[in-house]
Amino acid sequence: MSTRLAKRLDVVQPSATLAVSARAAALKAQGRTIYPFGVGEPDFDTPVHIRDAAKAALDKGATRYTAVSGTPELKKAVAEHSARTRGVPCEPSQVVVGVGAKHVLFNLALALYEPGDEVIIPAPYWVSYPEQVRLCGAEAVILETSEADGFRVRPDALEKALNAKTKAVILCTPSNPTGSAYPESELRAICEVMAKHDAWLIVDEIYSSLVYDGFRSVSALTLSSAKERVIVVDGVSKTYAMTGWRIGWSITPPHVAKVLDMVQSQSTTNAAAVAQAAAVAAITGTQEPVEQMRARFEARRDLIVKRLNEIPGVKCRTPEGAFYAFADLRGLLGLPSQHAQSGKLADDLEIAKFLLEEAGCAAVPGSAFGAPGYMRFSYATSEENIEKGLAAAKAAVEAARAKA
Ligand SMILES: Cc1ncc(COP(=O)(O)O)c(C=O)c1O
Repeated sequence: MSTRLAKRLDVVQPSATLAVSARAAALKAQGRTIYPFGVGEPDFDTPVHIRDAAKAALDKGATRYTAVSGTPELKKAVAEHSARTRGVPCEPSQVVVGVGAKHVLFNLALALYEPGDEVIIPAPYWVSYPEQVRLCGAEAVILETSEADGFRVRPDALEKALNAKTKAVILCTPSNPTGSAYPESELRAICEVMAKHDAWLIVDEIYSSLVYDGFRSVSALTLSSAKERVIVVDGVSKTYAMTGWRIGWSITPPHVAKVLDMVQSQSTTNAAAVAQAAAVAAITGTQEPVEQMRARFEARRDLIVKRLNEIPGVKCRTPEGAFYAFADLRGLLGLPSQHAQSGKLADDLEIAKFLLEEAGCAAVPGSAFGAPGYMRFSYATSEENIEKGLAAAKAAVEAARAKA
């Protein structure tokens, strides 16, 4: 048959978060109050000076194709920004700008992974990492981490998982979904392990500006003795509240940048010219709005972790960064719920449904990230939503406990 679909789709999962968000949208349409703890983007507007710069850029002609890998202004700005903020030594020739960090990761997947390759991904992981690996016909090797280790991969565990088939290891620091971030000492130990192996170390640093309690984000690119195998992925989406502009970039050795340029030249061509101009304004302009947003996130983090831990049966560690609290909800298993198939909560998917139906809280079940029993609560939402939503969740849990 000539109308069949590609076999590679057989191994790819649709987003597990869609069921919760579809039901949340349906409930909202019925007039229910929904507390949006599922979102993966800042609730702030893009700072005004960035929007103004984009408007001015349009009037100055940022309406045409640019170089595939990004305008010279943006690549230079990214190189300077990386050196300034994280001490990453980098030349514009190492930078390839794509249509968001997700696109950049996909270009990397196309350029690096092939059947027979293994790519090590510590769990809990961001949903797209394993699926991109599988789409390219390679095997995603999931490496469990524990909450006791702060959801960070231990160097000895990594050492054991690495083998001749390992093409890459993907780390995310601070992490989506756990908010965990690697301190310098741990990242250095990981780099030492990686230096002994001929494999790429891809580090997704998209949340590196959103760190709290004085945590210092350090880049693997500054620590590794095998810099030629370290790839950094970053972008403006989270730091500057610019998710809709779709600008991300990779920092790689120049020969890899050339290949990524080639891959991208056959798909999207350049990221939108006006969005690139906005990104230049974001990373070269005042960083004051970034600090303001960071401080708001930090206060919300403290609030949400406190409120989650006040719910009987819920435990939540204090994350170092990003805007997610990753809570252990296994203490709720077995509670009675009319929304559970057996009448009792049997897994995190049923807990998510219970929280949504009974309390209007839309959060993402941990099994979507390879961590069953957990739940990701985004705090990219107002303090009022955090207070009201978690008060409703607590009341729903207490009511269920009273019935148990
Ligand atoms: C860990 C991580 N990497 C990459 C991305 C993609 O970001 P972008 O908007 O730049 O595509 C996200 C977005 O949710 C993310 O959480």
